[in-house]
Order: sequence, then C-alpha cells, then structure tokens
Amino acid sequence: MSNETIIANKLLVIYYSLSGNTRNIAERIREKTGGDVVEIETVKEYPSDYTECTKEVKRELQTRDLPELKMNPPDMSSYDLILVGSPVWWYTVSTPVMRFLTQADFAGKRVSAFCTHEGGVGKFFPHFSEQAKNAVVLEGLDLHMQRQAEIPRALDLWLSKLQE
Ligand SMILES: Cc1cc2nc3c(=O)[nH]c(=O)nc-3n(C[C@H](O)[C@H](O)[C@H](O)COP(=O)(O)O)c2cc1C
Repeated sequence: MSNETIIANKLLVIYYSLSGNTRNIAERIREKTGGDVVEIETVKEYPSDYTECTKEVKRELQTRDLPELKMNPPDMSSYDLILVGSPVWWYTVSTPVMRFLTQADFAGKRVSAFCTHEGGVGKFFPHFSEQAKNAVVLEGLDLHMQRQAEIPRALDLWLSKLQE
C-alpha cells in the first residue's frame, strides 16, 4: 500500500525554508502522501549574504529576538500527524520555526520534525522536543544536503515508520 493510501487527509506539513532545501523536501512529502502543506514566512527578510545572515541569526538567538511571522499557526484540530520542517541554524531549530513553536499548542497531537543541514545537526531534535508544547514527539528525520542520493530512501523509511 502506498503512503498516500494510508495517511492522506490526516497529515499536515508545516515548514520554514530560506534557500529552498526544506521546501523541496516538504513538496516531496506532499507528493508522496497527499498531505496539506503550509509554509512559515517571516515578516522581515534575512540578509542574502550568507555570513551576514548567520550573524543576524546569532543575534536573534543570543537576544531571544525571534522573528515575527506573517501568519498565526494554522488550525491543526483536523490533523492527527503534523510534520514540522526546518533548516538547522546554528546547530539548532531555525528561529522562524522557534517562533512558530512559541505560538503553537499541539495538544496531544503526534508530531515529528524533519530538518535539512550541511552536516551539523547539533541539538536540533532535543531543542525541538523541548519547544513543541504538549506534542507527542515521534522520531524525526535529518537530511544532509550533500548526500542527496540517500534522501529518497531515508524519506520513505521515515514516512513508513510514522504509520506504525
Ligand atoms: C543562518 C544559518 C545557519 C546555519 N547553521 C547550520 C548549522 O549549524 N549546521 C548545518 O549543518 N548547516 C547550517 N546551515 C546550513 C543550512 O542548514 C542548510 O543549507 C539547509 O539545508 C538550508 O535549508 P533551506 O534551504 O530550507 O533554508 C545554516 C544556514 C544558515 C542560513
């Protein structure tokens, strides 16, 4: 049975992506599962220069100045599995997703995180679990962007485990 047959209509994917990697994964999940997809967007724009961007994010983390988002959390009541996607920023959850987590209450929902990165996952998953309020947090998925060949299999394995 395909993933779609099992989890369509019950699955929400909510993600943030600055440079497109996490969006690409969210789209692949949509194709595989037929789930609904929502993108988290910030009011401000991050610097296009990578070094400037990392400095800005470091400042946000140090001062806990999380970015304002364009929307409030979506109504999650009709979903029983929520997948939250984020790039890894400074070895943790990206600050836009941190902001989303301050606003969202998962109230007993099954939640799993997926992240994209360049080799340094750091404390992404423990920090995600601490910040996902009232969630039943399931095993997450980290995807190394320089190991593209491994992604399809890792994604399929993760999605099938979430159905168990
Ligand atoms: C501000 C910033 C901080 C980053 N910190 C890390 C990091 O700590 N570890 C890592 O492996 N990659 C890090 N990266 C790379 C991104 O995690 C990686 O390119 C990711 O796939 C980007 O996802 P996106 O295209 O959806 O924005 C960082 C990128 C940015 C912009």
